[in-house]
Amino acid sequence: MNFATAKQLVESVGHWHHAFEIYPGLTTPGAYDPGFLLDDIGFPADLHGQRVLDIGPSDGFFSLQARRRGAEVVAVDYRPKNSHGFGAMEQITGCDFDYRCCNVYDLNPKDLGTFDHVLFLGILYHLPDMVRALAIVRSLCHGTLYLESHAANDLPTHEAVARYYRQATLANDVTNFWSPNPACIRDMAFDCGFDRVTERTWADRYFGKFQTRDDPERNRKLQWAYGVLP
Ligand SMILES: C[S@@+](CC[C@H](N)C(=O)[O-])C[C@H]1O[C@@H](n2cnc3c(N)ncnc32)[C@H](O)[C@@H]1O
Repeated sequence: MNFATAKQLVESVGHWHHAFEIYPGLTTPGAYDPGFLLDDIGFPADLHGQRVLDIGPSDGFFSLQARRRGAEVVAVDYRPKNSHGFGAMEQITGCDFDYRCCNVYDLNPKDLGTFDHVLFLGILYHLPDMVRALAIVRSLCHGTLYLESHAANDLPTHEAVARYYRQATLANDVTNFWSPNPACIRDMAFDCGFDRVTERTWADRYFGKFQTRDDPERNRKLQWAYGVLP
């Protein structure tokens, strides 16, 4: 593909979320440059033979990074891939992805298998039932979870609490529901069978890296609630 066609394709997308160089000398016009998060994620340079699940990929910056390191990538979003930049990204980069237009609440390991790496970036606060979503994510993950979220870093740190946002009161976006504090994110992840490895916060955001923990005793609580954990 030449520069002019790539540019035309970028311009054909109504709204880009990510700003990244999609073609040499051509950057997508998103408001969010996600490049800084790659350092926190710390993907190995070589992901050949590994499976990566990108939940809520939007324009697919992170799916692309995983693919370029050799991973088998499955991307899942409840929006069709041409309603955001993902479809154009595939055409411009020449990378085809296994893209599932699906709600996170409908995912299950029978259809998708399980993954070495699960990217759960910028999505937790969009989900009305955070715990159910994390339990489903756990059922799909046998390795590392990378979780980035809007977070209530201003709430007390010693107890697990979350702020609920009625209608579009968070960022004028009706798809936003919650802002949990770091303790709340950690405790929800713990009950869903994830151990925290590292975390950091900045402004009103949180990033944590978690490892799955096979502990039937711990999983019992969520197994009782939803029946989705092994
Ligand atoms: C803020 S964007 C995050 C994009 C990207 N992961 C990142 O961190 O830059 C949230 C994405 O999650 C998707 N999403 C929100 N709720 C979802 C749900 N219930 N099931 C599947 N996808 C969802 C949206 O369509 C959007 O692509």
